[in-house]
Amino acid sequence: MTNEPTRTDSGPLLKVEGLVKHFPIKKGLLQRQVGAVKAVDGIDFEVNRGETLGVVGESGCGKSTMGRLITRLLEPSGGKVEFDGTDITHLSTGGMRPLRRDIQMIFQDPYGSLNPRHTIGSIVSAPFRLQGVEPEGGVKKEVQGLLERVGLSPEHYNRYPHEFSGGQRQRVGIARALALKPRLVVADEPVSALDVSIQAQVVNLLDDLQEELGLTYVIIAHDLSVIRHVSDRIAVMYLGKIVELADRTSLYEAPMHPYTKALMSAVPVPDPRRRGARSERILLKGDVPSPIAPPSGCRFHTRCWKATQVCTTQEPPLLELAPGRRVACHHPENAPDQVPGDTALASAGEAIEIVPAAKSPAAKSPAPEPAAPVAAASVEPAAPAAAPSAEDKGRAVAPSTGDDPAAGEDPEKL
Ligand SMILES: Nc1ncnc2c1ncn2[C@@H]1O[C@H](COP(=O)(O)OP(=O)(O)OP(=O)(O)O)[C@@H](O)[C@H]1O
Ligand code: SF4
Ligand SMILES: [Mg+2]
Repeated sequence: MTNEPTRTDSGPLLKVEGLVKHFPIKKGLLQRQVGAVKAVDGIDFEVNRGETLGVVGESGCGKSTMGRLITRLLEPSGGKVEFDGTDITHLSTGGMRPLRRDIQMIFQDPYGSLNPRHTIGSIVSAPFRLQGVEPEGGVKKEVQGLLERVGLSPEHYNRYPHEFSGGQRQRVGIARALALKPRLVVADEPVSALDVSIQAQVVNLLDDLQEELGLTYVIIAHDLSVIRHVSDRIAVMYLGKIVELADRTSLYEAPMHPYTKALMSAVPVPDPRRRGARSERILLKGDVPSPIAPPSGCRFHTRCWKATQVCTTQEPPLLELAPGRRVACHHPENAPDQVPGDTALASAGEAIEIVPAAKSPAAKSPAPEPAAPVAAASVEPAAPAAAPSAEDKGRAVAPSTGDDPAAGEDPEKL
C-alpha cells in the first residue's frame, strides 16, 4: 500500500515545526472573515520514542488545539507535523487511515466520549471494525483481554457506559485508545474530570501501560502535580506559543521563563524539610489576553514583571539556552540577558503580587506526605538540575495538597 507509513527507529517519533491553527471569525450575512482566533501560533517541538511530553498552560492557551492538530483531528493552518519521518500535515482522511492505528487520543470527558447506546464491548471493538483488523483468537477475546489490562473485568463486555463510574469509563476510553497497539497516545486532560483518588489510579495505569507496551505519550493537563508525575519533558504554553521546553526536574527546580517561574512558584514543596526553600509566591495579576489580538512582541509582556521596551516590540525566539532547554525570553531567569542593558518598564512591577512563603500555611504546618516520591519544586533555583532518571519519574499522583491560600482552592491547578 502506498500510504503505509515507513517505520524507522531513529529520530523523534513526532516532529512539529511552525505549527499554526487560526480559527476564522466570520460575521454578517455573507459570513466574511473579520479576524481569527490564533489558538496555536507557530510552535516547534519533538516527542522522542518512549517518552512522555507533558503540556501545561492556562485555559485557552491552545493545548487541546495542539493535541487535535498532532493527531490530525484538525487541519493545521500552517507548519508541519511529521510522524515517524512521514509528513502527515495535510494527509486526507483516507491517507490518515493506516496511521490511525499508530496515533490515538484519549479525551478528557469520560462521560461524553462514550456512546451511551453502545455496549462496552462494541465501543472497545470499534477500532478493529474500522480498521478491518481481525486479531488472533477473535475480536471479543482481544477486547476482553484489553478490559482486563486496564483493570476492568471481561464480564463488563456486555454492559453499558451508564453502569460505570467516571474512573471506570476513563479506563474504557483508554482500552479503546490502546486497542490497535498505537505508538503515540495524546491524552487531553485524561484525569481532570475524575476524583483525586481515582486520578492516581488512572495515571498509574497510563504509566504501567507505557512501560508494558513501549508507548509514547503527549499528556495535556492543567494540574501541575499530574504533569510533574507523568512527564519526562514539559512544554509550557502561553497564548498559542511554547515559551519553555525542558526536562521535568529542571523545569520545576530552575524555571527559566518568567511565566514558568510564576507557575512553579504555586507548586507546594512536597518535602517538609525543604519547605523553606520556597521563598515567595508570584501571583500574576492580569488576565490572559485574547488570542484574537495577542500582545505585540513577547505575548507575556502585559503580565511580566521583567518586561522591557524590547519585549513590547520584538518577539523572543524559542532558543536553546542550556542543553536540552529551550526558552523564549529576552531576559530569562538563571541565564544571561538575551538583550542586555535594558531596564524594566515602570509598569512591569504592577503586573504581579509577591506573596512571601511565610504567609502560607505550607511553611508552617507540613501537608500530608504524598504516596510516592516526587520531584521537589522551589521558587529560587540555584544550579540547573540533572535530567530525571527512570526511577525518579513519579509512580503515583499525590492528591494536590491545596495548602496555599494565595492559589485559591488548589495551587497546582492553573
Ligand atoms: N473550533 C474552534 N473555533 C473557534 N475557536 C476555537 C475553536 N477551538 C478552540 N478555539 C479557541 O482557541 C483557543 C484555544 O483553545 P483550546 O481549547 O485549545 O485551549 P486549551 O488550552 O485546551 O484550554 P483549556 O485548558 O480550557 O482546555 C481558545 O481561545 C478557544 O476559544
Ligand atoms: S521576553 Fe520580556 S516580557 Fe517576555 S517573558 Fe521575557 S522578560 Fe518577560
Ligand atoms: Mg483543553
